Order: sequence, then C-alpha cells, then structure tokens
Amino acid sequence: MGTLVGRDLLSIADLSAAEIAAVLDLGEALKRGTDPGRPLAGRTLAMIFQRPSNRTRVSFEVAIQRLGGHPIPLFNSEIQIGERESTADISRILDRYVDGMVARLASHRDLRALAQWADGPVINAMTDREHPCQVLADCLTVRELLGGLEGARVCYVGDGNNVCTSWIYAASVLGIDLRVVGPPGYEPAREVLERAAALTRGGPPVRCTHEPAEGLEDAQVIYTDVWTSMGQEAEQQQRRADFAHLQVNPALLAMAPPGARVMHCLPAHRGEEITDDVLDGPQSAVFDQAENRLWAQEALLALIFSGATPETRASPASRSTP
Ligand code: CP
Ligand code: NVA
Repeated sequence: MGTLVGRDLLSIADLSAAEIAAVLDLGEALKRGTDPGRPLAGRTLAMIFQRPSNRTRVSFEVAIQRLGGHPIPLFNSEIQIGERESTADISRILDRYVDGMVARLASHRDLRALAQWADGPVINAMTDREHPCQVLADCLTVRELLGGLEGARVCYVGDGNNVCTSWIYAASVLGIDLRVVGPPGYEPAREVLERAAALTRGGPPVRCTHEPAEGLEDAQVIYTDVWTSMGQEAEQQQRRADFAHLQVNPALLAMAPPGARVMHCLPAHRGEEITDDVLDGPQSAVFDQAENRLWAQEALLALIFSGATPETRASPASRSTP
C-alpha cells in the first residue's frame, strides 16, 4: 500500500483498494471512539467553497478541529475564483499561509490548477466531475450495512453526474457490483467508463442500463442523487421530465428485493428524485450515511497529515513554483 501522507485527493480513482480500506478502517475506529491524536496540531487548512454546502463544509470543519487543526472557511463571495483572482494566484498565495486546502469548486479543471500550484495537500470537496469524499463515506456506510464491499450489489438510479462518477471508480477499484440506471442522454461519460474498466482488477464491470428493473432486480443498495446538480438549474424543467420515471418511490423500491437499503448523498429534492416515505422510511440509511462524512473525512485527514510534522513542510520562501 502506498502512503497517503502529503497526498492530494482529487479523484477517488487516485486511491488503491488498500488505501480506501485504510481510510474506512480508521473511520470505523474513530466512530467507535478511538482517539486519533492531534495530527493537525499547529496546522491550518483553507476550506474553499465556491458552491453551497452543509454536510461537506461542517463535517470537514469539525474533523479538522477534532484533529487539532485550524480551519479557515473561504466562501466565493469573498474569494471570487476567476473573477477577483485566478485559481493559480489564489493557490500560490494560500499555499504560503496554510498547510493544506479542502476545495469545492465548480470546475474540476480549476481544482487541478489549485493542486498544481500548491505544495500542500489539496482535497476535492466536490467539483462538476467528482465527489470522492462523499463516496468514501458511502463505502463506509455500505460496509456497515452489508458487512463488506466486494461483490456488494449497488444500483445507482439517476444522473451520470459527479457522485455517480466517483461511485463508478470506487466500484471498479473495490470490486463492487455497480449498475447505473439512467435515461438516454444522461449516461456516465464514455471516458469515465473506459478509465473505470482500466481500474478493474477482476471484479464485475460497471453495467449501465435504461431499465430500472434490470438494475434493481437483486440490488442490496439503491442509491440516488438529485436530477439537477448545482450549476444545472437552467435545465431543471427538462430534467424533471426526462427522469420522472426514475423517482425512488415505493413502486420503484418494489422492483428490488424487500430488504434493499436506500442511500442518497443529500441534499434531497424531496418529491422529485425521491419521495418522503422512502427517504424517511425503514429502508433508508441516509442519515447514517450523512454522519459517516465526518468519520471518513476525519480518517482521510489523519492519514494525509499523519507523520508530516510542520517542520517537514517547506518554508514559505522555499516553496517551488511548478
Ligand atoms: N452531500 C453533500 O456534499 O452535501 P453538501 O452539499 O451539503 O455538502
Ligand atoms: N450531484 C450533486 C451532489 C450534491 C452533493 C451536485 O453536484 O449538486
């Protein structure tokens, strides 16, 4: 297993199965009450949020504080990425002040630029392409629900979006049996499926279908996300029409085995992609899933920053420029 110390996390595809397992094992231990120590003592992390957040921002901020570090949340109203300053300049400045960055950016390309210009670790808190920290917490949740991940039968119902993409990579790395059900025109991108195929180590390939019954027939977990992601608001009416038959409601649930569990990364558009009775019903795991954001991210931060003392970081004057 490689070490996570000092690493960026831009894509979940950057992690091996053993590295993901290390995050989940530590996350599980932290949830049980294991003391992580204070690997972030004396360290400051910038938390850049170009898009709104509840779970990601709060769980990261709490995790950073629990590990002894100091978070500085920066919202787009003040930092104004690409308007007031370029991503590269923001990164070059912040990197002289802080020991790492957690960033939710509209564009994955901007996230890459942020990481390219920073010596300290950069963690993806969601872009248009991926949401790796969400899926680490989701894997922790599936492991709790089913006792393991390899061979777990998960059916993602909805848009081939950022969350779906991170799920496709994680499933390929971990040997999860993932099916993606979506309407024509909203399938995961071909390059995502090709990259995923290259990551697969003998596990089942990700299957994409337009037929809910095909994806759900033996599913142990039914996963959904909003039909209209942040930044796609202009398409909302069209998307509502195109996805209407894929609402996760009691009729759709009935296509899966009776014990199937329901997951949603939240925030939910209640009454749109999922109904209240399912979200609040006995098969729903969504609030445990949301809690696991904290444990998975606390573990991730501890592993990225463990062993790296403040002295091992370059002094500001000696930071390199790529
Ligand atoms: N699931 C998730 O990332 O939620 P927030 O947008 O509230 O952070
Ligand atoms: N796909 C959603 C996820 C929100 C956590 C979005 O990008 O808005």
